[in-house]
Amino acid sequence: MTATPESTSSATSQNGMSAPGDSGVASSVLLSLRGISKNFGAVEALKNVDLDVPAGQVTALIGDNGAGKTTLIKAIAGIYAPSSGDIIWEGRKVSVHTPRDAEDLGIATVYQDLALCDNLDIVQNMYLGHEETRHATLDEIKMELNTKRVLSELSVSTVQSVRQVVGSLSGGQRQAIAVARAVMRESKLVIMDEPTAALGVSQTAQVLDLIRRLASRGIAVLVISHNLVDVFEVADRVAVMYLGNLVSCGPIGDYDTESAVQLITTGGTRTDVASSVN
Ligand SMILES: Nc1ncnc2c1ncn2[C@@H]1O[C@H](COP(=O)(O)OP(=O)(O)O)[C@@H](O)[C@H]1O
Ligand SMILES: [Mg+2]
Repeated sequence: MTATPESTSSATSQNGMSAPGDSGVASSVLLSLRGISKNFGAVEALKNVDLDVPAGQVTALIGDNGAGKTTLIKAIAGIYAPSSGDIIWEGRKVSVHTPRDAEDLGIATVYQDLALCDNLDIVQNMYLGHEETRHATLDEIKMELNTKRVLSELSVSTVQSVRQVVGSLSGGQRQAIAVARAVMRESKLVIMDEPTAALGVSQTAQVLDLIRRLASRGIAVLVISHNLVDVFEVADRVAVMYLGNLVSCGPIGDYDTESAVQLITTGGTRTDVASSVN
């Protein structure tokens, strides 16, 4: 990997740009990864990754296929145990061994396949495994009202009835339900893996809107995306992975499409590109 001012795996920024671990986001850091590595046999999927994820901001995680993006979010979500490194949550070192550990901390992960049950309605999906009960029976009224409240708070207006089965919804609506479920559980960090990959133009716009509304509620959003148009529209910060390394991280204003593409494809930026994006 070529070392450039922007391309660093150390905690210090050499040119004033935010680098992993620097203090540019310290006031509101929710999650910090320090020295996270993950090996699958001989494959080093993550190499000493440092990353700060601030509350109330959208951090876009970008990188080519095989760069380590999914492995990184799975380490945060309790699916893969890192081979080494620390996960620091709200300033405390934590162990995230299972998805339940992550959920208990307030980390929700919305995967590409969404894990919704097509044969159940929206309310049932929102409460799956966390049903509200009253006098030993399901409190349908409370669950229905809460579902309506969260959907309206998130301005999800395209759903006709919360008693619609999820199998009848569009891709964008399904994404909205998965996100609303995370909000209802009062998640502090919502992680999304390619949320717009399967969506058309107007549904993509709706999901990007929803992502912004999550951030405006103070939620930290970490979103993997291949689509740089989406990234520049929705992200406050960008983190670029290349062959298991986190090669660059900083405010979106420090990047343009050219420098982002170059980081994704080579892991570094030419000096002239690095200086032109300052
Ligand atoms: N369960 C696994 N077993 C072995 N190798 C894996 C596994 N998951 C990912 N890898 C490898 O780790 C690297 C990073 O993969 P991944 O995190 O899926 O990248 P991305 O999401 O950026 O495309 C790749 O070389 C991939 O082949
Ligand atoms: Mg992936």
